[in-house]
Amino acid sequence: MRNFETILITGGAGFIGNHVIRHFVKNWEARIVNFDKLTYAGNLENLTDVEDSENYTFVKGCITDAKLLEEIFAEFNPDLVIHLAAESHVDRSIEEPLEFVKTNVIGTVNLLNVAKNSWKDADPEEKLFYHISTDEVYGSLGASGLFTEKTNYDPRSPYSSSKASSDHFVRAYHHTFGLPIVVSNCSNNYGPNQFPEKLIPLMINNIRSESPLPVYGDGKNVRDWLYVTDHVLAMEAIAQAGRVGETYNIGGHNEHQNIELVHNLCDLIDEKLNRDPGSSRKLIKYVTDRPGHDRRYAIDSSKIQAELGWVPHVQLKEGLSKTIDWYLDNTEWLDRVTSGTYQDYYQKMYEVR
Ligand code: NAD
Ligand code: TYD
Repeated sequence: MRNFETILITGGAGFIGNHVIRHFVKNWEARIVNFDKLTYAGNLENLTDVEDSENYTFVKGCITDAKLLEEIFAEFNPDLVIHLAAESHVDRSIEEPLEFVKTNVIGTVNLLNVAKNSWKDADPEEKLFYHISTDEVYGSLGASGLFTEKTNYDPRSPYSSSKASSDHFVRAYHHTFGLPIVVSNCSNNYGPNQFPEKLIPLMINNIRSESPLPVYGDGKNVRDWLYVTDHVLAMEAIAQAGRVGETYNIGGHNEHQNIELVHNLCDLIDEKLNRDPGSSRKLIKYVTDRPGHDRRYAIDSSKIQAELGWVPHVQLKEGLSKTIDWYLDNTEWLDRVTSGTYQDYYQKMYEVR
């Protein structure tokens, strides 16, 4: 089992990143360095409960900035990098593909270069570059079948293409330069603190305010949903014992059509807010489909289950209920995030070093 003294986590102010940071700060003795640009998706309000912890440091910066990353590696000497920083929303990638190339491709290669150079004299057994990726790199499934680690890459959106490209570079740095790497590809995550542009928090926010619920196309696209803390536990298992050079698929065996999920959210929120049964479903509005919309994603996670003993713990009903409760208890967070005021506050508080 590997142990680490210093963990550099990129993108730790984002949705998944803040759960990763909180887990490692609270459960590990290692020093945790959170490196994040604080784009619209990065919100340090997600981390207020750990921001004063002795083993936690935040650095504001962009992963395309090689000089700053070299300084960070020299100052903190990380033995594990967990690389989450990315542009992550498919709809935005359709609007602005180049932003996705800059961060997801160029930023990742920049980070790989800095790790390679900074670790050149280190024992490779004592270092690990862990790249976090998505199941979307495998493309779109028909009605049956699952993505395995051997499924050919077939990305179809600018987002998934940029993530696929970054995955290839990570593996290339292992094969060409001997960089100790591991990659995981996970299905759709949900849970507290997710920016309300993604399906589940957007629907919760709109149901709460009785606004229209935009369902793309026929609503029958299928995603495999995983509660975010189950993803964090999978990452911990991979960081500790995943085989170097390998890829692990992570998923919840939890496939649902979007419309089923939206119905579930409507009914659960009606119940929690004492609204008339069925009233929120009336807000559903079928809208023009997303261009190139992938039909179905589903993950075979038998490799991580067999090798590392990881299994998801949170079932969808419980996970959705916990997620809804969090958003209904944190309406100020939602209001600050949707109005944009959170950004002014934290962007001004931290200078790029
Ligand atoms: P997110 O959009 O919520 O957060 C991304 C974070 O990265 C933000 O804090 C942002 O400020 C930071 N960031 C963006 N560009 C940066 C840059 N150039 N330099 C430094 N920091 C930068 O994303 P998320 O949903 O938390 O996803 C995290 C990672 O997990 C991504 O790599 C994503 O591809 C992957 N992933 C996400 C899901 C999902 O369902 N959300 C599923 C599988 C894999
Ligand atoms: P999303 O949360 O953007 O994740 P991804 O596209 O990376 O899987 O979308 C999940 C599914 O929900 C996807 O099939 C698109 C659909 N969707 C809607 O129908 N309406 C919406 O407003 C959003 C944001 C997504």
